[in-house]
Amino acid sequence: MTLRIRNLLVVCTGLLVLGVLISDCSSPKPSSTSTPPSASPPATKLWGDMKPVVSVKELMRDMLDPLADNIFDAVSTQITKKGVVNIEPKTDADWEKIRIGAVTLAEGAYLLKVPRPFAPPGDLNNSGGPDPVELSPAQITAKVERDPVEWNARIEALRNVGLEVLDIVKRKDVNELWDAGENLDRACEQCHRSYWYPGEDAKFYQKLNRRMEEFRQSVPAGRTGKPQK
Ligand code: HEC
Repeated sequence: MTLRIRNLLVVCTGLLVLGVLISDCSSPKPSSTSTPPSASPPATKLWGDMKPVVSVKELMRDMLDPLADNIFDAVSTQITKKGVVNIEPKTDADWEKIRIGAVTLAEGAYLLKVPRPFAPPGDLNNSGGPDPVELSPAQITAKVERDPVEWNARIEALRNVGLEVLDIVKRKDVNELWDAGENLDRACEQCHRSYWYPGEDAKFYQKLNRRMEEFRQSVPAGRTGKPQK
C-alpha cells in the first residue's frame, strides 16, 4: 500500500469515527482493484503447446482408470464372515487418496482434448470379425472429428464428477461419495458406449465391466450398501 493511500485511510478512518461520511474516502484504491473484482486472468490461451505422450487407450489404462479407483474403491459394501461391512473413508489419509483421484480426473480429463491416437500403432481394438463389439481407432477418430462437441461434452461430464468429488472431500461427506461413485461410473460408461463399444452385447458388457469384478466380492452400491438419506 502506498503511503498516499495509507494516509488517506487514516484520514478516512478518523472521519468515520466522527460519523462523517465522505464519498471521496471510498474512492482511492490500489490500482489492482480498479478492474472488476470478478475478472480473473483470461484462460483463452495456453502458455505453451501440448504434446501427447500416449494414446487415449493408454491414458485410460495408465492414468484415468487407476486413479478413478481411488474414488470407486473408497466406498463399498463387503460381505465377510463377520457379516456386511461398509467400507468408507475414515482417516485423513483415506480422504487424501480420494482427493488425489478427484484432482487427477478433473485436470486429467482435459488431456483428452489434446488430439492423440486412440490406440497404440497396430492395435485395432476388438473391431474385426462379423459382429465387432468395438470400433476401430480409425472409426473412433472419424466419429470425434464428425462431432467434436459431443466428445467435449463427455470430457466435461468426467471433469464435473472430479469437481463434485473435490467438493465432497472438502466437506468429508461420506453419503454423497456413494452418489459420486455412481456418477463417475456413468461418466465413464456413457463415453465408452458412444465411442468405444457401441456394438456391445450384454455378454461382452458383463465381461468387461469393472463393476462385475467387484460383484464377486461384494454387493453393489445402491442395493443394500447405500446409506438411506
Ligand atoms: C471422453 C470419453 C471417455 C471418458 C469420459 C472415459 N473414457 Fe475410457 N476410453 C475411451 C475410449 C475412446 C477408449 C478406447 C480407446 C481405444 O481402444 O481405441 C477408452 C478405453 C478405456 C479403457 C481400456 C484401456 C485398455 O487398456 O484397454 C479403460 C480401462 C477405460 N477407458 C477406463 C475409463 C474410466 C475408468 C473412465 C472414467 C473414470 C473412463 N475410461 C472415461 C473414452 C473415454
